[in-house]
Amino acid sequence: MLLKFPKFFLWGTAISSHQVEGGNFNDWSEWEKQNAKYLAREAGKRSWPAYVLNDYPNPLQEENYISGRACDHYNRYEEDFDIAKSLNHNVHRFSIEWSRVEPREGEWDQKEIEHYKNVLRALRDRNIEPFVTLWHWTNPVWFAEKGAWLNKKAPFYFARYVEKVVNELGDLANFWVILNEPTVLILNCYWRGLWPSRKNGFLVSYKALNNLAMAHNLAYEKIIFLKPQSRIGIAYNFTCFEAHKENFFNKIIKYFADYLNNHYFLEKIKGKLHFIGCNYYFHNRIKFNLFHPVKSLKDNENKFVSGIGWEIYPEGIYHILKDLKKYNLPVYITENGVADARDKYRADFIKNHLLWTYKAIGEGVDVRGYFHWSLLDNFEWDKGFWPRFGLVEVDYKTMERKMRQSAFEYAKICKNNGVILNTPEADTSCRYGASKY
Ligand code: BGC
Repeated sequence: MLLKFPKFFLWGTAISSHQVEGGNFNDWSEWEKQNAKYLAREAGKRSWPAYVLNDYPNPLQEENYISGRACDHYNRYEEDFDIAKSLNHNVHRFSIEWSRVEPREGEWDQKEIEHYKNVLRALRDRNIEPFVTLWHWTNPVWFAEKGAWLNKKAPFYFARYVEKVVNELGDLANFWVILNEPTVLILNCYWRGLWPSRKNGFLVSYKALNNLAMAHNLAYEKIIFLKPQSRIGIAYNFTCFEAHKENFFNKIIKYFADYLNNHYFLEKIKGKLHFIGCNYYFHNRIKFNLFHPVKSLKDNENKFVSGIGWEIYPEGIYHILKDLKKYNLPVYITENGVADARDKYRADFIKNHLLWTYKAIGEGVDVRGYFHWSLLDNFEWDKGFWPRFGLVEVDYKTMERKMRQSAFEYAKICKNNGVILNTPEADTSCRYGASKY
C-alpha cells in the first residue's frame, strides 16, 4: 500500500555552508582553532565505541574539530547536486556564507556572489528548487569583533547583507529562510557560553534574541520590497515536550518549556512569515524533580538513541506539526535527521517520521515538503566530523562520496511521492518509539 503525500510535495535535503563548503574564514573557523585541543582532550575523558574511534577523523583527534576543507562542497557542488538528482530530490536547502559575501564591513566580494549564482543555476539546471538560508549560525569576523548579536546595529548590518544578496540572487530563488534556529545559537553561545561568544548570561541572551528577531523582521521587509513574490520563512528548532505524568508540576513545566522553546521567538516575528520551517530532532519528557530542577526538563526513556545520544522519537513530529496548525501557515520540515555512522536506523527513522507526518497532514496540517538532514556527512559544529548525518558518506581523506543504503530507500519515497507500507502491521508498529501510531 502506498501512502501518497499531497501533490507537489517537495522532497530533498538540507545542508549549511560552514558544515560542508570548506575554506571558510568566519567566527566559527576562528573559534575552532582556539578550541580544538580542549575539545579533543575533553573527548579523551569519555569512553567511545570502537566504530567511532576506527573512523577518520575521530573525536580524540584535534583535526576532528577544525572544519578546514569540510566536504569540499564549495568545489564539488555540481557532483553533489548530481547525486541529489539521481536520488530523485526535487528541492534543496543550503545557506549563503555571509563571511564570503561581505568579508570586510560594507565590502562585497563579487566573485563569491558569482559562486552562489552558479550554485543556484546548478540546482535550477537539475530542476531542483532551491531554499536559500541567509544565516546558518556563522558570522563574518568583522561582525563578531563588533560584538555580533549584542551590537545594537546588528540587525541593520544583517539586513544590509540580505539586501545585497537578494538584489544579486533574487531572480534565481523564490524561497528564503532568513534565520536557522536562532534560539539554539542563543542557548549555546549566549546562555551557556559554549560556542563562539565572549559573554554569556540572561541579559546578553535576551539582547541577542531581540536583535535576531529584529534582524529577521528587517530582512523580511527588504526581501518583500525587492522581490514581492518571494516566499519567506524561518527554520526553527521545535522540541516536543511531554509530561511523564499529567500532574500539576509537570504540566506547568511543560507549558513554560513549550512556550519559551517553541513559540516565544515566533511571536516576535509574527506577520513576517509566509511559511514555518520545522527542524525536528527530539523530544523531552518532563518529570518534576525538586532536588534537581534542571533535570525536570529531560527524563527520557532513551530506548533508541542516535550516535550522539539523542533519543529517536518519531511521534514527536506529529505533536509539533499539530501544534503548528494554529499559525495557519504552510509548514516545511526543513530538517530532520539522525547521526548514524553505520546506517542502522536512518531508513526506518525517515519512514517513521514520515508516517507521523502523513497522519498530521490527514488531520489538516498543511505540510508541503520534507528536507532530510543531511545530503552529506558534514562538520557537526563543536562535535566536529565524527557524527555522521549523511545519506551520502564522505571519506574525509579522499573526499569520495558513497551513497548509503538509506539514501536509496529515501529515493524511493521521493520517487513515489509517498511511503510504501509492505505489511501494514509491521510498518505501522513504527519502531523507535512510535508504537501508538
Ligand atoms: C542544525 C544543523 C545541525 C543539525 C544536527 C540543527 O540543529 O541546524 O546545523 O547539524 O541540527 O545537529
